[in-house]
Amino acid sequence: MFPNNFLWGAATSAFQYEGANLEDGKGWSVADERCKNRAINHPQADASVASDGYHKLQEDVELMKELGIKSYRFSIGWSRLYPKGYGELNTDGLKYYDKLIDALVNNGIEPVVTLLHFDIPWNLIEEMEGFVDRRCVEYFEQFAKTCFEQFGDRVKYWLTINEQNVMSSMPSMCGLKEDETIQKKLVQANYNMFLASAKAVKACHDLCKEAKIGPCVSYPTFYPATCNPLDVEAAYLNMDLFCYYAMEVYVHGEYPKYILNKWEEDGVMPERKEEDATILKDGCADYLGLNWYTTQCVCAKSEGNLLNIGDKMDIVPNPYLKATEWGWNYDPKGLRIALRECYARFRLPLMICENGWSQQEELTDGKVHDEVRIQYIKEHVETMSKAIDDGVDLIGYQYWSFVDILSSSQGFAKRYGLVYVDRGEENTCDCKRYPKDSFYYYKKLIQTNGKGI
Ligand code: BG6
Repeated sequence: MFPNNFLWGAATSAFQYEGANLEDGKGWSVADERCKNRAINHPQADASVASDGYHKLQEDVELMKELGIKSYRFSIGWSRLYPKGYGELNTDGLKYYDKLIDALVNNGIEPVVTLLHFDIPWNLIEEMEGFVDRRCVEYFEQFAKTCFEQFGDRVKYWLTINEQNVMSSMPSMCGLKEDETIQKKLVQANYNMFLASAKAVKACHDLCKEAKIGPCVSYPTFYPATCNPLDVEAAYLNMDLFCYYAMEVYVHGEYPKYILNKWEEDGVMPERKEEDATILKDGCADYLGLNWYTTQCVCAKSEGNLLNIGDKMDIVPNPYLKATEWGWNYDPKGLRIALRECYARFRLPLMICENGWSQQEELTDGKVHDEVRIQYIKEHVETMSKAIDDGVDLIGYQYWSFVDILSSSQGFAKRYGLVYVDRGEENTCDCKRYPKDSFYYYKKLIQTNGKGI
């Protein structure tokens, strides 16, 4: 059963939603660059218009009100506030987020604000390769402090960095080129992002006494493909190396020994300073944000029908599950396992910050009949309810995404929204909004506080 103050919500991120990526003084970002480059190879939507959220603020908040959400997760574009990543503050950028936050609060919607969602200011890449350079930690801290000072009177829930664990495994998300030095640079950037996240937590605790802050981790659940101990070990190791080591740093302010051993063995130990231990200890999270979509099957060696090849393990299809066109398994039971496991390990409040179903969609007579998405939400909410009954302190659910957004990998071909955004890959039309069937389903679900519909 869901508590009465459960944060039923929906989510977006700045580069995937706002568009206007060069308007009102905003600076170019890593996300803008990635989207532009992808569009060169396969004509597809980029971040210049995205869902046109920058121009549809009031209209979208009206829709949120109609939906009845209690919270809305969005991110602040670092380069909208600081076009170069540091230096002069762009007051037009401030105004946009001020207006958005006011509109949310005035309509009784709790803002859940992410500080960094894949969009490091591009200038920081050009000047210093972003987080590879420790100066970037300071600049992030300054940006975070500005957000707390400007918006902290109205925002109670903050998230530091979205999916640092994904960013640090993808060079282009960190703004880096893939050359022979890449592994070492990625580890250094990852290490520095932990410091940046901890410094933001500390600043938030100092400046916004009532607020709660934590990271937002990509948290898929890995199953062993068989009961062969090699596969079981591979699945456990993958959970550790992708998720749990990072959660340990965020929650306990310490690196588990196995990750230091791995960096040592791989010859990529990052540069560290003595003060770092204190920085991490002073910046421990109040809650954990989890982006949970799916489960994946891991086997220890390369054989058969492989989806993805890692160092010593492969991801293979799960014959028991259906999946999206892009291979993301539909597996609500996996969410109960994930929530129980995470809570048992860390004993912190948990918030699901992303969870959603993607498919290609078209508008027919102004409607989208998205039955699979409805079923997906229903079954995941049932699972969450069970996990809460099991004792998990789950405080919120931010469905991904509120409106259709620019997918971080597939443009507008891959839609997640509760609201259809009328645009194609290249033709941006007018981005008119059309609530899908799932919008009305979720609305009822919220009205009944998640009880059996
Ligand atoms: C999460 C990201 O990894 O997954 C989102 O935080 C992203 O930004 C979502 O949109 C889904 O991924 P994709 O590639 O389907 O957009």
